Amino acid sequence: MIMHHPINGTRIVGTFLDINVSLSLHREYAMPTRICVELLRLKTPVYEEPESTWYCDEVDLTKDYESEISRHLERLNKRVELKVSGEYHFTISLYDVEDTLLEKYVSIFHSGPSPKCLDKLKQRSNPITTLTEYNRNEYTSLAGGTTQLFMSPLCAEEYASFMPSEGLHTLPTHSAFRGSFGVDFTSMEFGHGDLMMINFVLVRYPTIKHIVELGTFAGITSFHWGIAAGLRGGELHSFDIVDNRIEAVKGLWALNQKHMKFFLADVNANPMDKQMQQSSAAADLLFVDADSRTRMEQAVRSGSLMSEGSVIIVHDFPGRYSVFEWVKTLANIGFAYNYHDIATGSNVVSSVGIFERKASVLDSISAVCLTTFRHHAQNECVSAIASGNAVQ
Ligand SMILES: C[S@@+](CC[C@H](N)C(=O)[O-])C[C@H]1O[C@@H](n2cnc3c(N)ncnc32)[C@H](O)[C@@H]1O
Repeated sequence: MIMHHPINGTRIVGTFLDINVSLSLHREYAMPTRICVELLRLKTPVYEEPESTWYCDEVDLTKDYESEISRHLERLNKRVELKVSGEYHFTISLYDVEDTLLEKYVSIFHSGPSPKCLDKLKQRSNPITTLTEYNRNEYTSLAGGTTQLFMSPLCAEEYASFMPSEGLHTLPTHSAFRGSFGVDFTSMEFGHGDLMMINFVLVRYPTIKHIVELGTFAGITSFHWGIAAGLRGGELHSFDIVDNRIEAVKGLWALNQKHMKFFLADVNANPMDKQMQQSSAAADLLFVDADSRTRMEQAVRSGSLMSEGSVIIVHDFPGRYSVFEWVKTLANIGFAYNYHDIATGSNVVSSVGIFERKASVLDSISAVCLTTFRHHAQNECVSAIASGNAVQ
């Protein structure tokens, strides 16, 4: 007999699903010797590929059966993040020693906002809403298949009643609750967890003055950078291939024009845009958030021009590369990867990679071996990174 959560036909409105399975098996029935679990997300209008995570465990019949089952449950009963709204199938399959399927339990559930919340989101009106060709597809297909971004404060009462144990006693730090200065979530592609991380960096490096942002988009995150630069007597230089800032936003930039400057440029242009070259060379902090396909190239091209002590923050980290590829590539231009444990810790949901420029390439590689790969023998770690061979 299996009891489990999620229950068939339910709707999960939060981002996290607590899998909770209890098994009570009677010895008079065939004993399962293999237990498999699968969480399958079906295709959605935005994410055309279905996504499945699964694993199987063998039951060791030579051991005490009850404790074997509890060991399985410990692995099963965990919290998983549902990053995408859509239909999910949660399946538990029990097989016997001949690999014959004994039992299969499937619960089909939906993750995403309720129809009432979707309605509210469709009707919403916020003076600072930024819909562009770039983000329209993601934000207007509210019927489903969208990212969990719609877990919005506008539906706060829904989260409070559906998740009484968590409710809104503590505010989530992930993107869904984003919107500095009360802007609509379409106007900012940076969450509160990410903001916590940039404030951490700014306080930790008081000498940062000049900041470069690659990927201005709606120009709201830029206010954080621009005000920080202005307060320190420096400047923000922000670059985008298109100006997506709505008039009200441009008006506020104009009031800060002494320390907030916007430039139209293609981050992939070769040779590199002249202004971007100059601004990068003077930057104490580079924020990489333009074209998601070329973020490593952006970091390398601008980062190579930057000085000792400067910092690079990459958003949507690690994105299309592995963390090791980032660590290795940036270490080889003198930047050491840092603060991994803070950025990926459970107190803050953020997706930033933070690098600090050292005096030399050898220093950056050694620093990485002392922090990220601290469990490795120094010499082996240094030569593995320098040669590009993986360090786990
Ligand atoms: C993820 S958004 C930036 C989000 C913004 N930093 C924020 O926090 O809201 C990516 C931006 O990169 C810009 N972009 C895409 N390709 C680019 C390119 N080749 N050169 C410059 N900007 C580009 C897009 O126009 C878009 O505004």
